[in-house]
Amino acid sequence: MRLVRFHAHGGPEVLRVEEAEVPTPGPGQLLVRAEAIGVNFADTKIRAGAAGIFVRPLPFGPTGDVVGSVAAVGPGVTGFTVGDRVAALVAENAYADYALVDAAWAALVPSGLDAASATALPMLAPVAIGVLHAGRVTAGDTVLIQSAAGGVGHLAVQITKLLGAKAIGVVGSPAKADFVRSLGADDVITADAEWPTVDVVLDAVGGSSLTRGLDTLAPLGRAVIYGAASGEIPAVPARSLFGLRSLTGFGITTLREARPDEARADIARATRLIADGKLRVAQHAAFPLSDVAMAHQVLDDRANLGRVLLIP
Ligand SMILES: NC(=O)c1ccc[n+]([C@@H]2O[C@H](COP(=O)([O-])OP(=O)(O)OC[C@H]3O[C@@H](n4cnc5c(N)ncnc54)[C@H](OP(=O)(O)O)[C@@H]3O)[C@@H](O)[C@H]2O)c1
Repeated sequence: MRLVRFHAHGGPEVLRVEEAEVPTPGPGQLLVRAEAIGVNFADTKIRAGAAGIFVRPLPFGPTGDVVGSVAAVGPGVTGFTVGDRVAALVAENAYADYALVDAAWAALVPSGLDAASATALPMLAPVAIGVLHAGRVTAGDTVLIQSAAGGVGHLAVQITKLLGAKAIGVVGSPAKADFVRSLGADDVITADAEWPTVDVVLDAVGGSSLTRGLDTLAPLGRAVIYGAASGEIPAVPARSLFGLRSLTGFGITTLREARPDEARADIARATRLIADGKLRVAQHAAFPLSDVAMAHQVLDDRANLGRVLLIP
């Protein structure tokens, strides 16, 4: 089978399509024949050799949101049979014809759901739900959503509206504004504009964006940090919190470990919202596995409106 890995850090050109043996599922695992793979921004950081949370041993095969059919079931797995259509976040070697999936976190794909939408079931949509939950967003709140056109961001905008809150999307370039408005955002601003006072800030950019976001919160406001696209995780000035503000964080892996029932409930909720057509997963582009470098280039360029896919 084909497997994408990189042996040195660098630009998208370091991604190589290699030949590899089809892996055998171990205890608790499923072997999935991939139909589509959602490409995540964090893997561009891992590929580029960013520090901290992005460090992985080399060679490395990127993570990804794999949708496909179960080709083999590992020992001890119950609840899945060969042929089931599933979606899962794969922690390594996800860009491939076949991937090994942790059965404990595989989501069954509702019949008839398109592959692009299904790639959001295990991670993007549960993260969007999770960050809004962490920010204790309720009807009437005003929520400032960073990277609002991105994979997680474009879903967070829509879920904010479903919660009855006001969504203000922040985008890196004006070209993304119409897309974010089409998702139902009440307002869209560019990152360099003046930010309004809000109840909740959702931030996966880090750096000065986070400190600025904290200062823009109303009394009793909440900031949620769940990523560091800028590559910087700032020391938070405690004085910002004296205004009755709070800062909290979200990480899907930690949620799965600490509150597995809640993490599963978020996947179930995401599945219902997407299957019912209440939450729309926008597909920006789909590339064949051989054009994996182009898929990463789109994310490097901060050009994506929604999801970028690989099709094996
Ligand atoms: N905590 C978790 O469990 C979890 C899970 C999944 C993802 N994440 C994080 O969530 C974020 C979104 O992930 P995604 O895959 O959906 O990516 P994405 O939002 O589609 O892409 C990242 C976006 O971040 C913005 N960005 C990129 N580089 C930046 C920089 N240097 N400074 C400021 N903004 C920059 C860009 O939007 P603009 O150009 O519009 O600013 C870019 O499009 C990532 O930070 C990711 O690591 C966290």
